[in-house]
Amino acid sequence: MLICNKINKTYDDGNTKINILSDIDLNVHSGETISVVGASGSGKSTLLHVISSLDKPDSGEIKLDGDLLSKLSESQLCKIRLNKVGFIYQFHHLINELNVEENISLPLRISNMSKPDIEKKVDKIIDQIDMKKRKNFQIDKLSGGERQRVAIARAIVHNPKIIFADEPTGNLDKNNAKNIFSLLNDLVNYNKSSLVMATHDLEIASLLSRSLIIENGLLRETRI
Ligand SMILES: Nc1ncnc2c1ncn2[C@@H]1O[C@H](COP(=O)(O)OP(=O)(O)O)[C@@H](O)[C@H]1O
Ligand SMILES: [Mg+2]
Repeated sequence: MLICNKINKTYDDGNTKINILSDIDLNVHSGETISVVGASGSGKSTLLHVISSLDKPDSGEIKLDGDLLSKLSESQLCKIRLNKVGFIYQFHHLINELNVEENISLPLRISNMSKPDIEKKVDKIIDQIDMKKRKNFQIDKLSGGERQRVAIARAIVHNPKIIFADEPTGNLDKNNAKNIFSLLNDLVNYNKSSLVMATHDLEIASLLSRSLIIENGLLRETRI
């Protein structure tokens, strides 16, 4: 599903170059769920952004569902993001001016899906995230957990083959975090998507099929 070979990413703070990702190799199989743990600042977000096509590596190859990302134009990359990738952030990144239904339908509207098809898909996922009664609510009227439910629905509504989640429960209390993770996990399994999730929560990390740790720019398997 996703093959990464020798990925390098360096940030330059003006004086020194810092190697955030050093020769990282990673394979994610179809339907596999992976957690990425590591200290704050270790490069989890950088890794997720690079391997999901949101950012570019300095060197190395990323093949996403057969497409070599470095060979694609910006508009081809947009198409891949719209069709094959879902991204969930720690802070929902929803549009406050739109309501729940409008936020969730956004990726479908951008990809020119017909109105009845959009309605069908959006209604189904709103039901799955148990937000039927909040369908017309503005985002700022929702609790933190409800916002993350909507963010998950928006990232998953187009049935992406792979979902990246960057500390999706990092901003929630323990109970809410568990609920939101289990919702995400259920939807990922239901859609047979792959999942790569950065998290601080070792209890949640242990529930995924494989765990990786990033340390000093290197990524390795770990047991949690
Ligand atoms: N755009 C940027 N420019 C310079 N340094 C950055 C940039 N983004 C992240 N960094 C640095 O890269 C390191 C890794 O950051 P990040 O990937 O956000 O870590 P994590 O998600 O594990 O907390 C940090 O030291 C951070 O300060
Ligand atoms: Mg981060």
